[in-house]
Amino acid sequence: MQLSKIMENNINKIIQFRRSHYPSEFSGKILDNSIIQTLVQNAHWAPNHTLNYPWRFKILEGQQIINWLDKALEIYKIETPIELQKESKTQKLTHFKTKISHVIAIVCVQENAVKSKAIENICAVACGIQNMYLSLSQFENAVGYWSTGLGTYSKHMHSYLNLTENQQLMGFFILGEIENKRTESNRKSYSDFLL
Ligand SMILES: Cc1cc2nc3c(=O)[nH]c(=O)nc-3n(C[C@H](O)[C@H](O)[C@H](O)COP(=O)(O)O)c2cc1C
Repeated sequence: MQLSKIMENNINKIIQFRRSHYPSEFSGKILDNSIIQTLVQNAHWAPNHTLNYPWRFKILEGQQIINWLDKALEIYKIETPIELQKESKTQKLTHFKTKISHVIAIVCVQENAVKSKAIENICAVACGIQNMYLSLSQFENAVGYWSTGLGTYSKHMHSYLNLTENQQLMGFFILGEIENKRTESNRKSYSDFLL
């Protein structure tokens, strides 16, 4: 049976079968734009304090992804001491160019510290990202993961994305197409984390 059928209306399976999938696993095919729209639409339904909608999303596709990966590599070279730089980074990001379908830059707006605290805004945006992750379950071949690498915390990436001072980059949701989704995980038991 198709995975998306197994998941249908089963919230426990949707949560527990959710996996991060990485560009090395992507086929390179481009996802339908309607899938990306569904993800962003569902992110918008995340809980958020005082309904202040602290998220902003910037969708990258096609040549924009190639330019963004070039920028991420440039930042890596600027910000990593030369003796720690790895040649494999260049190869990896070049490979990504042939694999990624869409990238959603995840931005948190921190504009009114009185109305809602910074941590609350970040939490709300993170809830939105989980909504995107879970929404992928309805699509048989669409996968992705949240990356806080690729220049997320760099001022160079901040200005590359034309973000304002009160807009905080929280990473990238990186999407692609896959033949078969993974569902397994070797997570520890939840009972080990009860206080
Ligand atoms: C805030 C956050 C940042 C993450 N950043 C990265 C990242 O930079 N690179 C990466 O490979 N995975 C990243 N991940 C994905 C985690 O590695 C992944 O969720 C974890 O390995 C568990 O796998 P699962 O999502 O399949 O359950 C991130 C996840 C979160 C929540």
